Amino acid sequence: MRVAGGIMTTHAPGDLGPHCLVVDDEPHLRRVLLRVMQADGFTCDEAANGALALEALARRPATLVLTDLHMPEMDGIGLLREVRAKHPDTAVVMITAVADVATAVSCLGAGAMDYLTKPFHIEEVRARVRQALDKRRLVLENRDYQERLEERVAIQSRRLEELFLASIQSLADALEVKDPYTHGHSVRVSQYSSVIARSLNLEAEDVRQVELGGRVHDIGKIGVRESVLNKAGPLTDDEYQHIMTHPVVGWRILSPLLSEMPKALNIVHSHHERFDGRGLPDKLAGTDIPIEARIAAVADTFDAMTSARPYRPGVPLAATIRELRRCAGAQFDPVVVEAFLDAIESGAIDTGGLADAHTPPGASGG
Ligand SMILES: [Fe+2]
Repeated sequence: MRVAGGIMTTHAPGDLGPHCLVVDDEPHLRRVLLRVMQADGFTCDEAANGALALEALARRPATLVLTDLHMPEMDGIGLLREVRAKHPDTAVVMITAVADVATAVSCLGAGAMDYLTKPFHIEEVRARVRQALDKRRLVLENRDYQERLEERVAIQSRRLEELFLASIQSLADALEVKDPYTHGHSVRVSQYSSVIARSLNLEAEDVRQVELGGRVHDIGKIGVRESVLNKAGPLTDDEYQHIMTHPVVGWRILSPLLSEMPKALNIVHSHHERFDGRGLPDKLAGTDIPIEARIAAVADTFDAMTSARPYRPGVPLAATIRELRRCAGAQFDPVVVEAFLDAIESGAIDTGGLADAHTPPGASGG
């Protein structure tokens, strides 16, 4: 046994296993309790009052505190309060004279696990300590369960989100099987759109929706006849009308899935609106067109022009940029065009793999 700051330590700090702090101003009683606890496999500290007990706990947290009620400096009630606040995992058992049982019982309401009345029988001490530790274990297990439950809920909701995105991805893949020339198109529209959205300072959640909206903007082409979808030559009026149903068809398909992502849905529905009000399906004009749809319109046209098709090669970058500029204010929101061209110039949009020199056939979204 060694003495440190008025607290006698019988085991070195850092020992593993259950640790007990016995707090009583009567040395004889402390020693009796210490022997009982040590015989039961506890390492023990002892302290003569509440203040010294707190010092001991600061040095080494205890599994269990056995404390007298009446002591100088800081009594058992004060100590209980401090232990509950600073060491909530420590079980506290009050020791009291029969005359103070009412006070000891009130300590149960303040967080003590149990109480012992003096004089006590050793077997009684053992039983009370065992019960107190059982209760403590249940409390800790319950807390641990709650924490793991929260973690599991977080994992599950992440998983649900992944499954949701995977189901959207499957729809996009289904379209690409039917229309192989759009392969990669929606991915690039999504990338370009999110770069523009960021540079226009849209909120992070809106950027997320823009990304998704770009990914699925043409999903309604699932409902377009393949003979029209994959036609190499120019479209007849009827064929054009048919293909241009895809924004509304896509919106209908995705509405139940994307009810919490209205901005992604806006892209699907309105990416063929024109800034001058001559677009589809609602002939919206200017800022009546949701910003996310104005963004996707520029990204969509840029990718449609620069990508090679079986019936024509990709339009070179410089010609595409000229065409976007020419159409700013008519087909496109000029602010969006400017943001996009800035992003190309700054390298935020990678144009390294684009076609070299061909004649531009004119700006038209895919
Ligand atoms: Fe489209």
